[in-house]
Amino acid sequence: MNLSLDFEGKIAPQQLLATAHAHSGILDLTASERVFIEGDNLSSLKAFLPDLRQKIDLIYIDPPFGTGQPFSDIEATKAYSDEIQGEEFLAFIWKRLVFLRECLSPQGSIYLHIDKKIGHYIKIMMDELFGEENFINDLSRIKCNPKNFARKAYGNYSDMILYYAKNRDQQIWNDLREKLEEEDIQRLFPKKHPKYGPYTTHPLHAPGPTQNGDTGLPWKGILPPPGRHWRYGREELDRLESEGLVEWSSSGNPRKIVFARDHKGKKIQDVWTFKDKGLSYVQYPTQKNHKLLERIILNSSNEDSWVMDAFAGSGGTLWMAESLKRKWIGMDQSPMSIRLIHEHIEKLKLNVTVRTVSS
Ligand SMILES: C[S@@+](CC[C@H](N)C(=O)[O-])C[C@H]1O[C@@H](n2cnc3c(N)ncnc32)[C@H](O)[C@@H]1O
Repeated sequence: MNLSLDFEGKIAPQQLLATAHAHSGILDLTASERVFIEGDNLSSLKAFLPDLRQKIDLIYIDPPFGTGQPFSDIEATKAYSDEIQGEEFLAFIWKRLVFLRECLSPQGSIYLHIDKKIGHYIKIMMDELFGEENFINDLSRIKCNPKNFARKAYGNYSDMILYYAKNRDQQIWNDLREKLEEEDIQRLFPKKHPKYGPYTTHPLHAPGPTQNGDTGLPWKGILPPPGRHWRYGREELDRLESEGLVEWSSSGNPRKIVFARDHKGKKIQDVWTFKDKGLSYVQYPTQKNHKLLERIILNSSNEDSWVMDAFAGSGGTLWMAESLKRKWIGMDQSPMSIRLIHEHIEKLKLNVTVRTVSS
């Protein structure tokens, strides 16, 4: 497919990039591990693009969702307004994505957090910009408890995170796993070893005959069943047996013992439950769950990677990146966001390069 989305204010990427600052050396990333840029993020990206180009391994952004409403904290102090809507909103996101894509390293990836009213348009936009082949996941994030409203509609308790790689199969992928729950262990490992705990057994043979070779020969005087071969050569089968990792059935069939403690964890699926705290429990409206950010950072960046959040808000991405030993760049223009981020920098006594960019 070669689809593209037309909207008022769409500018060709090359034309947009030509408006960036032409020289590097303004923001020296070799001399810093933390950067906070105050001001409009498009102006910031334009100003610092030569220094940011291809440097960032992970971008997480949670922009305004084009809802048309202002967001305030519990004391009704305005944090930011989300007034840009419709095609103007699409143009706003498009311009920033064009620059953010340039910042990604060849092994980089971007996660864009958005709601389900506008998110599908952003998906088409990102397919066009990043390449459909670089689309990795549309993650559904369960954000709150089930809703019970009178509106004639199903409750909407999820939003979406669109995940793209700069280059599919080159992106950092740390294959994070989820710990098995007790019920998974009981279901998958129903037997109990007196010393090593829950286990199950797997067949020691696999489909397909061996034409020539070790895995088709008798082991302990037994041939693999017709049409099958031993999963391992006889030397490995002997090792498993000598280490007590082979269980013999009552009919004399050998099976490999597999312990729950050696399981590397469950593959993470594309529906995530990370509910956000209510307004009375956070400093910043629309503040995202830190565990959600932790998962993204752990899976899609390495220690020493640069992690960027161009809509930093309360700074959650930056603080998670800090605690996971990543370098970070945050941007925001809201006075409340800037104040909170500075307060946290002070609290952690961090050495941060701060820049202010005027629009
Ligand atoms: C949904 S909030 C982000 C919340 C954040 N993820 C958190 O966990 O706290 C969106 C943020 O984008 C910022 N923002 C909106 N437009 C911006 C712009 N043009 N430049 C920089 N920041 C912007 C707002 O000030 C706001 O803090």
